[in-house]
Parts: sequence; C-alpha cells; structure tokens
Amino acid sequence: MRMERILREKRVVVCCGSGGVGKTTTAAALALRAAVDGRRTLVLTIDPAKRLANALGFDEFRHEEQLVSADLMRRAGLEPKAELRAMMLDVGGTFDAIIDRYAPSPEVRDRILQNKLYRNLSATLAGSQEYMAMEKLYDRVGEGEYDLIVLDTPPTRNALDFLDAPRRMVDFLDESVLKWFLIPYVAAGKMGLNLLRRGGEVILRTLERITGSEFIRDISDFFQAFEGMYEGFRDRAAHVVNLLEDPGTIFLLVTSPTAVAIDEAVYFYQKLREYNFAFSTFIVNRVHPSPYGDAIALDPVEAVLREKLQEEAPPAVVESLLASGRALHTLAMRDRAGLARLREAVVEEEVDYRLVPALNEDVHDLQGLAQIGGAIMREQSATSAIPPLL
Ligand SMILES: Nc1ncnc2c1ncn2[C@@H]1O[C@H](COP(=O)(O)OP(=O)(O)OP(=O)(O)O)[C@@H](O)[C@H]1O
Ligand SMILES: [Mg+2]
Repeated sequence: MRMERILREKRVVVCCGSGGVGKTTTAAALALRAAVDGRRTLVLTIDPAKRLANALGFDEFRHEEQLVSADLMRRAGLEPKAELRAMMLDVGGTFDAIIDRYAPSPEVRDRILQNKLYRNLSATLAGSQEYMAMEKLYDRVGEGEYDLIVLDTPPTRNALDFLDAPRRMVDFLDESVLKWFLIPYVAAGKMGLNLLRRGGEVILRTLERITGSEFIRDISDFFQAFEGMYEGFRDRAAHVVNLLEDPGTIFLLVTSPTAVAIDEAVYFYQKLREYNFAFSTFIVNRVHPSPYGDAIALDPVEAVLREKLQEEAPPAVVESLLASGRALHTLAMRDRAGLARLREAVVEEEVDYRLVPALNEDVHDLQGLAQIGGAIMREQSATSAIPPLL
C-alpha cells in the first residue's frame, strides 16, 4: 500500500528501525503531514530529542497529550485541516504500574506489591515497561479521539522486543506457573468450590512443611491476591496483541542507506514478516544527493568543470571544490549501493521505498519536519535534491 493511502486510511502507523536512523523524526513528520491533510492525529514518541519538542512548539515533551498550535503551523506555511497532538510514552516505568492499574482495591494492590514472590517476578519479567507503553496506544485507539495514531518505537538492537511485549505478556499469563496456580482458584471461586480451594491450601501447607520455606506462603498469598485480576489482565493483553495485527495497523521501517543499517533493516523486515505484521514501506533516511547526479565516470565531468571554474577562481580553490564534489559523490554512490543491497534482499514487489535527503542540519522546526514529510510523499519540492537512485 502506498504512503498516500496509508496516511488517509490507516488508524495506526508504527515506525520501526534500529538506533538513531530517524524513527522519531519520521513519526513526527508523518503525523504532521496527516494532520495537515485533515486527520485528527496523535504521535506517540519515545525519548524524543529536545529539539523536536521545540520544533512542535513545546518546551519539552510530557507524558500526556500536547496540542501543537495551529498558529505555529500556519506561521510555518502549513494549513492544518485537523489537530495534531503529541505525547511521550513512558517506557521507564515498572511492572508495579500494571498491578496498580488492575488491582481491584488499594489493599490488594499493596498486598501484591509487598509480596516477595512478586518482587522477584517483576524484576525478572522483561518487557513490562514496553507492554505498558503499548497499552497507552491501545487506550488511545479505544477512545476514538483520533483518526490516526503514529507510534514511534524505542532504539533497540533487540529488534522487536517492544512490539513483542504484549504477546510475551499473554504467553507469560498463559504458560507460566501462574496459570496452574490460578486456574483452580479462579474455577473454584466461580463454582463456589471452597473444597478445591481448601485442597490447594492443604497442598501448599504440606509443601511448606516439607521445604520449611516461607516462600511457599508467599506464593500462595500472591496467587490469592492476583486471583481476581488474572482474567481481565489477560484479556486486555490479548486485545493489545490484536491491535498490532489489526488490518488498520501498518508497519514502516526507517533506515539509513549505510550497509550496516541496511542489514539491520532487512533483519527487522524479516522479523516483521515472521510476526505477520503488515509491512508496507522502507523509509530510507539521510540519503546524500550527488552534485553530479547519476554520473558514474567522474573524470570527464570534472575536466569540463575544471575548465569552466578556472576562469573564475584560482586553481587551489577549484581543486578543493572538485575534491568536495568528489567526496559528496562518493557518499551518494555509497548510499546507492546500500539501496541496491536493500532491494536485492526484499523480494516482494509491493514493498514501497521512500527516500529522504540528509538535511543540512538536524530537524529543529516545523519546516524541517514538513520537508521530511514532503520527501516521504515524493513531493517535487522536497525530493529534487535526491538523484533518481531507484
Ligand atoms: N533527514 C535528516 N536530515 C538531517 N537530520 C536528520 C534527518 N533525520 C533525522 N535527523 C536528525 O537526526 C537525529 C536523530 O533522529 P531521531 O531522533 O529521529 O532518530 P531515532 O531513530 O528516533 O533515534 P533513537 O533510535 O535514538 O530513538 C535528530 O537530531 C534528527 O533531527
Ligand atoms: Mg527515537
């Protein structure tokens, strides 16, 4: 599916990619673009650069929705047809927040939080922060305030940890010992089978006698406290998984054109396929334009240029100009090789490639963001700097 349709029709766009390639910038640029084009849009960022906050008119990003001023957009020459909001996701929280949220009462919450088994469990259950971030996405989609939500993802070498968090949470709840302890409790509770419940107690007491351990008491206590929470918690985690697999959700991969980044992007791409997430587009960011366009053999081009320039500048200046031209061309050719490598690794025809030029400075205002959005949408004004690499 083409970017134009994606921004018009999808409800969730997820921007993935390895560290520092421009995921957050791309997410913000796409969100800005969608809002300008008339969709109520929210961008959920992760650890964004302060300059991006400033670009959107904020002193800093907060863990709540912030409206981007329409005036600011108009001053940047944009005519927004809908509102744009941004919110920073908190991926630094702890599992405690989950308990806090699902515990039916403060007493139960405290009982769980203070439980020794829980303290061990929560320290080892990786991905709970990521899971919470995903829940925020799910919340916002559910509220229906937005036509489109663009989700940024954290810089992680460990590919899809973040996106996998909801699924791991479901697996954890389904497969862990938790289930084997809880199901009888839950079932017994439902059927009023106190006998079963007491049966569990007897086993635990026996175990306790044998092991002589207070730990068994903790286990029992923990599972009893957790009992009422299990089903709601599990259902919700399953909904979060469904959201990522929903037809309204699409994944993009941001990469730079360097060989290392391309290899990582290909790895991500394969992972996304393994997970059966819908993938549409590679956004190749920071592509360097060559002053010589498509030229392969530079010598004749340089000879002509040298002759022309010599009339206007001293030889030393001419040579240094030609040297920087050659350096830029080398960079551009390296990018071209990276893109060729990407295309070779990706067999599907329907995958789309969008090139974004390396801007002269980092993105610090709405114009910069709009320029990146324009390049992704292949607008002439934003892409003229890019040679026809593909
Ligand atoms: N096309 C571009 N031209 C110039 N600067 C860019 C471009 N794209 C991104 N940048 C700048 O590069 C820096 C890193 O971008 P960004 O924060 O979006 O990367 P990221 O992939 O989100 O990084 P992380 O993995 O750390 O989250 C920012 O300062 C941003 O302004
Ligand atoms: Mg980022």
